[in-house]
Parts: sequence; structure tokens; C-alpha cells
Amino acid sequence: MGVCPDLVLTNVTLPGGRVADITLQDGRVTHAGSAPGGIPAIDCSGMLVLPGAIDMHVHMRGGVQSAKEDWTSGTKSALAGGVTVVIDQPNTIPPLTDPSNFFNRVSDARDHSYCHFGINSGVTDQTPIQQMWKAGALAFGETFFAPSSYGDAITEPALSGALVKIQELGALATIHAEEVLSGSDPTLVTHNALRSARDEMLAVQRVLACNKVNCRLHFCHLSSVQAIDTARGSIEVTPHHLFLSFDKLKPTDAYGKVNPPLRSEQERKNLWTRWNRIDVIASDHAPHTCAEKQAPFEQAPSGIPGVETMIPLLMAEVLKKRISLTDIMMKTSHNPAEILGIRPAGFTPGDRADFAIFPTVPISITTDRLHSKCGWTPYEGMDAVFPENVILAGNIVFESGEYHRGTCEWMNGAGYVPR
Ligand code: DOR
Ligand code: ZN
Ligand code: ZN
Repeated sequence: MGVCPDLVLTNVTLPGGRVADITLQDGRVTHAGSAPGGIPAIDCSGMLVLPGAIDMHVHMRGGVQSAKEDWTSGTKSALAGGVTVVIDQPNTIPPLTDPSNFFNRVSDARDHSYCHFGINSGVTDQTPIQQMWKAGALAFGETFFAPSSYGDAITEPALSGALVKIQELGALATIHAEEVLSGSDPTLVTHNALRSARDEMLAVQRVLACNKVNCRLHFCHLSSVQAIDTARGSIEVTPHHLFLSFDKLKPTDAYGKVNPPLRSEQERKNLWTRWNRIDVIASDHAPHTCAEKQAPFEQAPSGIPGVETMIPLLMAEVLKKRISLTDIMMKTSHNPAEILGIRPAGFTPGDRADFAIFPTVPISITTDRLHSKCGWTPYEGMDAVFPENVILAGNIVFESGEYHRGTCEWMNGAGYVPR
């Protein structure tokens, strides 16, 4: 440790209401109390300060999919939304199901990321699970229990076998649980019917039945009350299932096509009744280009971007007093850190010094202020509160729209063995 703190956040209102100065040094919080003068400082009076969020479900694309997104654009988008750690999903092209693809992915992220990152391993019956763990995979999945854009479904015997190996390592398995009926799919209404809430619940049941060894499970993007009430393990819900419904969109609007599908307005409201059971809010940031989304509905890829708008939409709910600031901290920072085994960000000495500092006035979301390469958002016109400053490892990396590339850490899993 150097002798001089790097930065002080002054007049921070802590979750309990106490106001303190938070001293940051070498990427950690070193003191919460009053700080001496003479250190670079950000005055947080009248602002809302959150520990940096971990978005534990993003698809950063890159490689041949760089027209949709790449590590630079995706992580700039993350920072502008108060997210300081992104967890990349393995359904890339090529998929992350062998160590060599995994190492290439890590090196692409190291070279281009503007925030901390973790990378998950794919799971197929061919994947060398132990080698992927040693390569530094943070978790295993999302494993597709139903086919989705760029994700082939795994069979039940293969999932059972993989869960045995993942459990032996003490690792986490993250699951995309859906069942898909066949049929023509020309609208958001049919999309919801072919991948129904009831079938999502049945898929959760079947996944639980495959888990004979009590492997630690995390259910990604559950979209219905039935599925949440059936699931065991940790539960993730996306902003799009909390804030959007298919009946508010034009039926052929493929921008709203996503898996699991947007549900009815009534089901969307019901989802909020399970707020206290939701462990994690994660975006499932799945950017596709406007050209791809303008294809006829049936051909258009599924997926909605959201890494930049997730915390801002939730912050607007805080201002409306519908949820608390503590809820956001738990579901987007504390719980994902605990589930993934990442050092938490926060206000206590030793915590990771990642923060986002928000004003208390909402603005309207417009695509032109967002940073994802995909160039569209389904949240146009909705209220949101974007951070003014973002701190990564104790340094200012985003300041009124300007970026400074900071020290980005690769959050490797507990099994990592350096080569
Ligand atoms: O809508 C989705 N898009 N669901 C997924 O599970 C995959 C994702 C993607 O990668 O585009
Ligand atoms: Zn998924
Ligand atoms: Zn996903």
C-alpha cells in the first residue's frame, strides 16, 4: 500500500443514514469516518452513492459479432449505467466450451474492457468442466435448457452429468430454464405462448430433478411468479421482465423479442409481488443490431440490451419510493458478489472501491445518450437516473460523460490455476 490515499468521497450518506467520508486507496476502501484534507475529493452532498453494481448476466459479443457489441462499447455502456463488474456469458462465437477459446476471450477482455469482468464457461456434454475451472471460469452457464439465440439446448442426461462435475468443484451452475413448443411464431403473442410461463415453471422443475447432487444453482432471468415459486437456489430477474410487457408493444415488434419472452402486463405486475424473493437483478444484456431486429419477426434474433439502463430504471423507482436504495445494493451488488465469490464493493474498510454517484433528478431515456453499439433501447421515454461519476478500483473512470480507462480486474473463479 502507498502512503497516500487516492481519493475521498466526502459527505456520503451510508445505508443507515450516517454521513461519512469514504477514503479509497489501492482499489480498496481504507476508512469510513472523517478524512484529512489535501486528498483529491468528490463531494457527495445531496447525491445518492451506490456500491458499483455487478451485472452477472451480460452478452458482450465481440469477434464476428462486433457489429452488435464489443468489449469496449459494452463495458463503456456498463460504466455509464453504474455497473463496474460484468459477467460475460459463454454463448459467444466460437462458444466458450474449451480452454483455448476461453483464454482468447479473457485476453480480448483484458485488452479492451473499461470495467472489471468475469467470464463463465459453457456447458455441453463435451466440455472439459475441470479444465475450464482451472482456466478461470467464474461459474458454469448460462446453460440453455432450451434453445435460444446462439445457444443450443443441453439434454437432461448431459445436464445431470455436468452438475455432478460442477458440484464436485464447489462451483455455481447458472441455468436458462425454458421449454419451447414448436409452431409458427409471427408475433410477441405467439412467442409468449410458445415459451409460456407455465413451461418455464416446468423447466425449472425438470432442472431441479436433474440436480441429484445438490449442486449450487442459479436460475437466470425468471419471468413468472410460477417459476420463482418453484425454483430453489438463487433467483435472477431482468429489468425487461419488470418494466416491459408484450401487450404494450405492437405485436410484430421484434425489438421486444427476447427469451424468456416478455409476458402480459398483468404477469409483469405479478412479478413485482415476488420482489423480496428475487436475489439478483441482472440485465441479460443481449444486443442485436437494428437491421437484425427489423427482419420479419420470426427471423429476428431474441435479446434486449440493458446493461446501461438497469440501475438507472431502478433508481427512478427509488425516487418514486417504490423500492429502497438498500434493495438495489443487495440485488445488484451485495448478493451477486456473494453468489459468485467476488469481493464485495461497499463502504466498509477492505471493500472493493467501486462506486456510482447519482443525482436525485430523473431524466427520460433516449437512445442517443446510450453507449451500446446496438444503437437502440426498448426503454425510450422512460424515467431513469444515470450516474454522474463512476469510481473503479478507487479511481474516477466516468465523469460527466467522459471516460478514463482505469485498472480493470479479471474476476477469475476460485479454481483458477495460472498457466
Ligand atoms: O433473448 C435472449 N438472447 N435470450 C438468450 O438466452 C440469449 C440471448 C442472446 O445471446 O442473444
Ligand atoms: Zn438466457
Ligand atoms: Zn443470457
